[in-house]
Amino acid sequence: MLESASAGMFFAVSDDRIMENIRIMENIKAIGILTSGGDAPGMNAAIRAVTRAAIYEGWKVFGIYRGFEGLIGGEIKEFTTESVSNTIQRGGTILKTARSRDFMSPEGRAKAAENLRKFGIDALVVIGGNGSLTGARELAREYDIPCIGLPGTIDNDLYGTDSTIGYDTALNTIVDCVDKIRDTATSHDRIFFVEVMGRDAGFLAQNSAIAAGAEAAIIPEDETDVDQLDQFIGRGIRKSKNSSIVLVSESPKHGGAMHLAERMRVEHPEYDVRVTILGHLQRGGTPSAYDRILASRLGVAAVEALKEGQRNVMMGIDDDHVVYVPFSRAIKQDKVVEPELINVLSILSI
Ligand code: F6P
Repeated sequence: MLESASAGMFFAVSDDRIMENIRIMENIKAIGILTSGGDAPGMNAAIRAVTRAAIYEGWKVFGIYRGFEGLIGGEIKEFTTESVSNTIQRGGTILKTARSRDFMSPEGRAKAAENLRKFGIDALVVIGGNGSLTGARELAREYDIPCIGLPGTIDNDLYGTDSTIGYDTALNTIVDCVDKIRDTATSHDRIFFVEVMGRDAGFLAQNSAIAAGAEAAIIPEDETDVDQLDQFIGRGIRKSKNSSIVLVSESPKHGGAMHLAERMRVEHPEYDVRVTILGHLQRGGTPSAYDRILASRLGVAAVEALKEGQRNVMMGIDDDHVVYVPFSRAIKQDKVVEPELINVLSILSI
């Protein structure tokens, strides 16, 4: 399963280090699992996969509630295979999640490490986005605890994986919403600015714009000297159409959908403009089949990775192969929105 990783693409650890790690891993008897940061559909499928794969190996599994916050507070419970029954289809996370301020301090991490020792947890699987994997890396570095990351975020902004758990579901949710917005936009001959999540990443906006047949996407990655709003207007918004939909990623760089709509009202009062901010509804709902399969594959792979002596790596998917991505790369390296996607949208929106 991990062939492409071993073939070297994202190979993380030297052979000597692996032998050393294997010695450590032979002693693994129990692992902990937590979800952290923003929830994402498919996190439950990942928890289920890690839990069952570890029990299959004869290891104990401890569910850690409310992310690093719960690790500090000792909110830890032993999981059985039944603990994850009937969860693969559920959105959110049965382990709950949090963004922990305490974990950012050395004292917080010391308490977390102490609880891992107290419960006899030898290794940790962390499911989350950028901030969560950064936390895992710190803990691993300071306390020599083997940590494996699973990319769990709707933003799809982790380097080294084609997709993150939750992204596909969120994309489909957005497309479904935009299809509905288009009905009313067309009926009223209006321009709609639809704001979607993604913090500093435009994957959700760009790809939902293509999938929903929108007229434009305004994303942080396409920030150039040319103003994206001017560009959209310059292309002639109403040459052949009576209504338009513009997907806007929530990035503060361009001020968001509200700001752009306000500009439009001032600069082009001839247009009837409306805004829809999709907000947290993008994070909920039943995970898509793609996300369930991705989460299941990466969850099993996380346990395999621990068995192989890997540590401080995120499991990713690259060209349909499971790969290891060192935390440092997954977190730090920018994942680019392919210029081809930007081109496709501008060609198809004429
Ligand atoms: O990181 C996932 C994400 O959904 C971002 O797209 C968004 O900016 C953020 O979380 C919102 O976080 P919160 O739920 O804490 O408001």
